[in-house]
Amino acid sequence: MNTPHLSVHHLNAGYGRARVLFDINLTITTGTIACIMGRNGVGKTTLLNTIAGLITPTTGTITHNGTDITHHPPHTRIRNGIAYAPQGHDTFAPLTVAENLHVAHHATKRGGPELIDAALHRFPRLQPLLHRRAGLLSGGQAQQLAIARALVTNPTLLILDEPTEGIQPSIVAEIEQAITDIAAEGITVLLVEQYLDVALRLADTVTVIDAGHIIHSGNRTDLTDETAHTLMAI
Ligand SMILES: Nc1ncnc2c1ncn2[C@@H]1O[C@H](COP(=O)(O)OP(=O)(O)OP(=O)(O)O)[C@@H](O)[C@H]1O
Ligand SMILES: [Mg+2]
Repeated sequence: MNTPHLSVHHLNAGYGRARVLFDINLTITTGTIACIMGRNGVGKTTLLNTIAGLITPTTGTITHNGTDITHHPPHTRIRNGIAYAPQGHDTFAPLTVAENLHVAHHATKRGGPELIDAALHRFPRLQPLLHRRAGLLSGGQAQQLAIARALVTNPTLLILDEPTEGIQPSIVAEIEQAITDIAAEGITVLLVEQYLDVALRLADTVTVIDAGHIIHSGNRTDLTDETAHTLMAI
């Protein structure tokens, strides 16, 4: 039986008086990859930031494994298994790769040091870079570190905002493979992905946002490539 891992009900959110998200409803099943798509500026990051607890919604609820987390602060969400790799592959720039992983791991304590080994095994390119400062990494390396840093918190829900943005194709393929493997291990993935081909290969469900409204939501298998292209062109 499919269990709802995360549900968003009638969510409205924005910045000050500027409303960005309008009546968003979303249900994500445990162990699936939910892909959010839409053009620039439609509110994708705002939705992820709200789910991660960085933005308080004006109205609506967010439920995680049956618990209403709408008013939980971000650190409580992380401790309860929600990890977030924000857009722009942000890392702790002055710290080394190893320090980035240890700080995130230590802050959450959701498992032993094997989590760090597993993250490095997943992204072997990081292994020889352990003592390099994160601020000196290439975009692709930094993105892999950002995902690895989320993984060392032992999440059950991994939120990724455009992990392939501005990254060369060979690394995009590695990141795509990593996301496939992560989901196959039972971790639920909430992904914002602009590259249509990557999104359509990864997604179990596809939600398209336009101007803060959901204009399409359904199973990937019910979406023809033609419909997907049409939706993305709106
Ligand atoms: N901190 C902020 N303060 C005020 N407005 C903001 C803020 N962050 C984003 N916005 C506005 O909210 C709207 C949605 O932005 P958001 O970053 O959620 O879009 P997005 O779909 O993630 O875009 P992109 O594809 O470019 O990442 C935009 O109009 C943006 O200008
Ligand atoms: Mg964004």
